[in-house]
Amino acid sequence: MPRKIIITGAAGFVGSNLTSRLLGADHEVIGIDNFSYGSRSNIKAIMGHERFTFMEADLCDPGALKGMEGDTIVHLASQKIPRYTNSYRTIEENNTMTSNAIARSLELGARLVFASTSDVYGKNPSIPFSEESDLVLGPTKVKRWAYAASKIHSEHKLIATGEEKGLKYTILRLFGSYGPNQNMTWWGGPQSVFIGKALRNETIELHGTGQQTRTFTYVEDTIQGFQLCIAKAEAENEIFNVGSDPSTEVTIEGLARLIWKLIRPEDAEPKLTLIPYSTFGGGYEDVLRRVPDISKISKMLGFKPRYGLEEGLRLAIEWQRLQPAP
Ligand SMILES: NC(=O)c1ccc[n+]([C@@H]2O[C@H](COP(=O)([O-])OP(=O)(O)OC[C@H]3O[C@@H](n4cnc5c(N)ncnc54)[C@H](O)[C@@H]3O)[C@@H](O)[C@H]2O)c1
Repeated sequence: MPRKIIITGAAGFVGSNLTSRLLGADHEVIGIDNFSYGSRSNIKAIMGHERFTFMEADLCDPGALKGMEGDTIVHLASQKIPRYTNSYRTIEENNTMTSNAIARSLELGARLVFASTSDVYGKNPSIPFSEESDLVLGPTKVKRWAYAASKIHSEHKLIATGEEKGLKYTILRLFGSYGPNQNMTWWGGPQSVFIGKALRNETIELHGTGQQTRTFTYVEDTIQGFQLCIAKAEAENEIFNVGSDPSTEVTIEGLARLIWKLIRPEDAEPKLTLIPYSTFGGGYEDVLRRVPDISKISKMLGFKPRYGLEEGLRLAIEWQRLQPAP
């Protein structure tokens, strides 16, 4: 059934890919973005689409969503890594934007589909992370945790508003998504930066020992998760991990080596160097292993990741090769 969906952060990486897919599936989309991290080029191909309306506005403004009608609000707009701005903006703006999205969802009786993050599991050493796992963050003086804390706060706010005021919500915890339209700086994740470095034949900097692990999710699989959550009634008032199969866990060094091999197969050895965490300041702490348990979304909604890491990286590289340097 075609829906009317409001997407905050529509010009960003996930937002632009999701908007395109939803338009392709006959839905009507109203997108909002202030272009602080997204770009006009991400939505160029869909501007003028008969079922797409775009509003340039700041979601921190309480009136930003006024007059927008829809049965679903997908809330993606966010301050991400505090290193790029500061933890004050991460805490304040993420709280304000979530509050505004909740207020409009309540007015409309719309379901609020919220993009949370795998970072909420923090330093929990028990792998893989299920939706019931403990959320283990480091000290509040370490500002990198402000992002996870802001998302945990938003999750609590959605759940509490559901209990108190009947808000309908779905929370998606995304694990490292990548692909076309990804931000090509660290804002977009290590794969964006490593692809850029290998394309320019520059040394790839690995943080810490490079032995910390991640799983990466090709954006089409991330979008599959959103589409299932939007479409299925069973997703209401639930939390889901959206990521790749746990068997795709890779070290950051392994990721760098794979990207180098895909871009520069003629080189025997990639150019890699280690950067100690101490150079970041603010007592930076990294997550040593980050692996999702995706059995809940698989069993309840029929989610099945379709892209392996190498296949997805080839597509991301193909896209990034054609982009002007950041
Ligand atoms: N990409 C990932 O791998 C990943 C992983 C975990 C969680 N997430 C979450 O998913 C969501 C989307 O991530 P993304 O990678 O597409 O990020 P992104 O930065 O590419 O997209 C977010 C968009 O929100 C917009 N925005 C930010 N502040 C705004 C404001 N005040 N008003 C209007 N627009 C504003 C930005 O301009 C940007 O276009 C975020 O909430 C992020 O925390 C993403």
